[in-house]
Amino acid sequence: MGSVCQAERVKLKTRQAIAAAAFLWAGLALGATAGALSCEYLADPEGVDVAAPRLGWVINSSRRGEAQTAYQVLVASTPQMLDRGIGDLWNSGKVESTDSIQVSYQGQPLGSLRTCYWKVCFWDQWGNASAWSKPAQWSTGMLTPGEWKAKWIGLDPGTGPGGAPASAASPRRLGARWLRREFPVGKPISRATVCYSGLGWSELYLNGRRIGNEVLSPALSDYRRRVFYVTHDVSSAVRQGANAIGVVLGNGRFYAPRLDNPKTETFGAPKLLLQLHLEYDDGSSDDVVSDDSWKLSADGPIVANNEYDGEEYDARREFVDWSKTGFRDAAWQQAQLVAAPGGALCAPMIDPIRVTGAFKPMSVSEPKPGMFVYDLGQNFAGWCLLRVKGTSGQQVRLRFAERLRDDGTLYLDNLRSAKVTDLYTLKGGDLETYEPRFTLHGFRYVEVTGYPGTPGPDAIEGRVVGDDLERAGEFSCSNELLNRIYRNVVWGVRGNYRSIPTDCPQRDERQGWLGDRAAESRGEAYLFRNNALYAKWVQDMADAQRDDGAVPDVCPAYWPLYNDSVTWPGCIAIIPGALLDQDADRRLLERAYPAIARWLDHQVSMVKDNISARDTYADWCEPPESPALIHSKDPARKTAGPILATAYLYHCLRLGARYARVLGIPEDEKRFDARADGLRQGLNDRFYKKDLAQYDNGSATSSILPLAFDMVPAGERPRVMAHLVDKIMRDNNGHGSHGLVGGQWVNRVLTRDGHGDVAYTMATQTTYPSLGYMVTHGATTIWELWNGDTADPAMNSGNHVMLVGDLITWLYEDVAGIAPDEDRPAFRHILMRPTPVGDLKSVKASYRSLYGLISSEWKRDGAAFSLDVTVPANATATVYVPANDVATVTESGKPATQADGVRFLRQEGGAAAFEIGSGAYHFRSGP
Ligand code: BGC
Repeated sequence: MGSVCQAERVKLKTRQAIAAAAFLWAGLALGATAGALSCEYLADPEGVDVAAPRLGWVINSSRRGEAQTAYQVLVASTPQMLDRGIGDLWNSGKVESTDSIQVSYQGQPLGSLRTCYWKVCFWDQWGNASAWSKPAQWSTGMLTPGEWKAKWIGLDPGTGPGGAPASAASPRRLGARWLRREFPVGKPISRATVCYSGLGWSELYLNGRRIGNEVLSPALSDYRRRVFYVTHDVSSAVRQGANAIGVVLGNGRFYAPRLDNPKTETFGAPKLLLQLHLEYDDGSSDDVVSDDSWKLSADGPIVANNEYDGEEYDARREFVDWSKTGFRDAAWQQAQLVAAPGGALCAPMIDPIRVTGAFKPMSVSEPKPGMFVYDLGQNFAGWCLLRVKGTSGQQVRLRFAERLRDDGTLYLDNLRSAKVTDLYTLKGGDLETYEPRFTLHGFRYVEVTGYPGTPGPDAIEGRVVGDDLERAGEFSCSNELLNRIYRNVVWGVRGNYRSIPTDCPQRDERQGWLGDRAAESRGEAYLFRNNALYAKWVQDMADAQRDDGAVPDVCPAYWPLYNDSVTWPGCIAIIPGALLDQDADRRLLERAYPAIARWLDHQVSMVKDNISARDTYADWCEPPESPALIHSKDPARKTAGPILATAYLYHCLRLGARYARVLGIPEDEKRFDARADGLRQGLNDRFYKKDLAQYDNGSATSSILPLAFDMVPAGERPRVMAHLVDKIMRDNNGHGSHGLVGGQWVNRVLTRDGHGDVAYTMATQTTYPSLGYMVTHGATTIWELWNGDTADPAMNSGNHVMLVGDLITWLYEDVAGIAPDEDRPAFRHILMRPTPVGDLKSVKASYRSLYGLISSEWKRDGAAFSLDVTVPANATATVYVPANDVATVTESGKPATQADGVRFLRQEGGAAAFEIGSGAYHFRSGP
């Protein structure tokens, strides 16, 4: 009996202990909630036109080993219902799943112009449920084309005042078109939503109020294939009674700023499609649409505008209160019904372009009487705000440049034909402020002429303009030069994002050149949250594909360059792979795959004897032999086109095979792999010189590509690598000799074969050619040319990103040790293998993955090495701590082999490898 009682007591105690522990865990689990809710990668997006948008959340928890085992999503049509726990649109129920990103909406079919309110909770690995997240929302756009009742309106050139003939010679700068109408609202309104597309660029006003804060909107596209429209909830701007709506249209790329040299696509005169949907309290609804009842004027204050040449604004011609009711528009003409641009209407599922920053001048000088030059201290893309007081008719002229001449005046030679001039005509009287709407400049210096009197420091303010993207990561290290280069890259990338990635923001070009970004873009993902932007650009590529499979070199193909080279169009195959690794974006892959496969087959059809000779641009911008040259003339410095084309096609075919495997298309996988095998054979047969362990002339890039893509004959890799190292260290005294193609792989390929110090030597040079040389010569961004300070200005931008190559990828993935694992992508599993290189003493990096913040910080002091890492909840990592013996490794002061949540895996290549779950860890190795 006694013993039974004893047994019962033990049981009871055990139960109590378990209950207490469960309570403790439950308490902790309740502390962890889901946050940073996103829909299609965006926070609370408006106008989503994807039928089943993808949702994601981040689990906020610092507990070690936190993981989700199930989730529940509620999507409701009102905030009240969501609050009461009713998911009338979707109640997923408890879904046993570890997925916390890329979760497709699976609820009721969504109607157009609805707001969906949602929240999520999750269960941890002990079965505890979290609290509900804070609510988030998305709204839908126009889901079916038939719902558009609006008509395209505008003013075709040559048909009225302010219209210029369609054939106007370059530069082409129409005045802005102003469109307006008034409309009554007879009943109380419950909701008003506007969807509109004002091409090329537009701003919308309702009752005198600017709607939205995006600029240079909508996103760029080939308007014959795709037209982006913008959606806004305007419930608070519409009122019962009389209302007025107005739109101002700029030229953008729709009415192209140039037509020739090279041939440029143009799409017609600016035009508008707008539909304002009014929902009344009584359940009825109405639409106000663009049609020929609208009034239009081309005689407003924006006398001329285009992106390259600037905007001319005459404040005397302002239409005061033009977007309010009662404005007298009798002198305006009726808007014309005009042809639709042709493309499908789509929501731009990307963050819009906005003014994202400001610069006060660092200094101002007066190199000539009446000519004032402001230095904003940073090369960037945007424009200036002008403050001026004077008399009516006085004109202030602003011009923009990246550099100054020795005499302190602007250096404009590298802008080619771009006039980069904003002209402001004063109305006179009080202080006037002006910011252009429909132009963009790439500059650090601003020249002001015609200013009444002497402009003070406040007369000018720089406005940074570009895609309004969240920063994704931070990097700093003990080498100040590398930190400076890193900052220059950040500014370079920032200045070249504007709904597409461009080559440069300043001269008469500004195109989405594919080759520049092929693998370089992977590094950009650590700087900015650019996944939606790049997914959009891949769509632009698919849109631009010709029926025969050809993809152009520039997308959108405003310059229709269908050269059928491999390296530039190869971007269509390469970028989806990076998005698959970084974000597990399978849907993008599904969408892009047919275009990728068609392009691969098209390229393969041109292969002869297992060699592709399709190359147009060579290893663009390898360092030339003479300071004034743009391109080298020395055959010894160049990499043969067929090596570039064959190696890239090989790589793209292997990627194609990987995609086919992911998507379950075995016949494609086999076909692509077989063609790739042939190309490897072809490359080695034709170009590999075994006696010299080099390809062809032994240029750096001719070694880099076969090494990076694993094409080198079995057993020869160390010799080819040694050749590459010699090329850099011996022949070029520790400098690179590659152009933009080789540069996209060089640092990683060296480091992964144990030559990280060579990569570091190149990355920290201050002499020509190097990124450090640019820094020491005053660059605040990255130049187009290694010799950007001395080369022919015909092609010499001061703000390009192509020569960044794989530097940023290398800094994050290799040096800091934050890399995705292809097998468990999106950093679900992280490969954390920091590489102490050169004389680096410390590195600190962080990256905001879709699962949450990952960080890695290492320091070394003699033989002692410390590594602090953070792994977000629902993710795991393999961490490699440099150490020859695991016995010398501790974690938070304990032997690492006994530390909580740390599992020793193996000794590998001079490091002890551990498996960890989420949380923060402090490893230390050495004495
Ligand atoms: C662009 C580059 C581009 C190249 C290709 C240049 O004008 O600025 O970024 O890759 O042309 O030809």
